[in-house]
Amino acid sequence: MAGIRTLEKLDVAGRRVLLRLDLNVPLNGGKIADATRIEAALPTLRWLMEAGARTIVCSHLGRPKGQRVPALSLEPVAADLAERLDAEVYFAHDSVGPDVEYLSKSLQDGGLLVVENLRFHAGEKAGSEDFALQLSRLGDVYVNDAFGVMHREDASVVGVVPHFEQAGMGKLVEKEVAALSKLLRGPGKPFVGILGGAKVSDKIAVIESLMHRVDALIIGGAMAYTFLAAKDIPIGDSLVEENKIRLARRLIERCTERRVSLFLPQDHIVSDSPDGEPTVTRAIEPGMKGFDVGPESVGLFSDVIGRAQTVFWNGPMGMFEKEAFAGGTRGVAEAVAAADAYTVVGGGDSAAAINRFELSERIGHISTGGGASLKFVEGRDLPGIAALKSKGA
Ligand code: 3PG
Repeated sequence: MAGIRTLEKLDVAGRRVLLRLDLNVPLNGGKIADATRIEAALPTLRWLMEAGARTIVCSHLGRPKGQRVPALSLEPVAADLAERLDAEVYFAHDSVGPDVEYLSKSLQDGGLLVVENLRFHAGEKAGSEDFALQLSRLGDVYVNDAFGVMHREDASVVGVVPHFEQAGMGKLVEKEVAALSKLLRGPGKPFVGILGGAKVSDKIAVIESLMHRVDALIIGGAMAYTFLAAKDIPIGDSLVEENKIRLARRLIERCTERRVSLFLPQDHIVSDSPDGEPTVTRAIEPGMKGFDVGPESVGLFSDVIGRAQTVFWNGPMGMFEKEAFAGGTRGVAEAVAAADAYTVVGGGDSAAAINRFELSERIGHISTGGGASLKFVEGRDLPGIAALKSKGA
């Protein structure tokens, strides 16, 4: 990317490199449930090790809100990294302070130290100057490869950068930026945006910005019920954001004005509760709730996706964690995988769905960033990227 140094342009041999990664992996009973983000960090780690850098890895894990939460320790992640890299990985039980600094200075060329969860200190999320300064003492060169956190103004993402003479991006950020930029600059047409998930409020900005670029917009997931309500289509007792119905109506009008075809679910998988008996219906009766889009909708959406040249998908079509309500998300995932198009899946739940349905090999790019990929696609300058740009190429 123009304006940011790549690894090749940094002097790392024999020097301490403070490497910000996004090792925020889902945990289940202390075990790593999905190692996608760890895998995604390996190319940069290997590159730095081979280049003879002394790498100090820092990351957040979950949202411990400035408290030391043992269940959110990065220690198991450090152990997992050691296995994947087949290398010795040291672990520091804090992320700043004289002991950690000492450990950083004892590393050999090609060595690796992982420091404890940054968010055990409130200064990380608060973007504290003092915390940024303490952190900067761990390295001589700064590399950010944490794409998933580029939209945050956390101390390790933004505040730390001015303390370094040399700062740049890692391989993952380079890849993410290149892949997502294709959606912003001259995407192949027709361009289809698919949005799902629970809340309209989370997706307003991306809908507004996609409207200027896409030819068709598919909306599924619980947020679709707010749009259906805006069209006075009965939605029974489905989840709805009452205070967003007017906004949804405005967004529908804007789609018409901009000649963007808007596709909403036409049928639904409903039940009286997430554990109830699922049935397919076109009209949702009172007392029933929609938990997934129905087969007719999957057919319609697949048809639209099949004609696209570019596809961006963020957010599941239904409660896909439950098999009874997974059909819509699976159908859309299969259509995206089968499309003869440039396909990008935003991180978070839609990426988890693609992995669960074992379709990842057939997707152009799966972002490791949930919020970050959405903000990027909105066309925003992400704070982490802006900070790296300020250090020049
Ligand atoms: C993510 O999971 O999207 C990133 O790791 C960022 O996490 P955050 O939303 O807690 O800042």
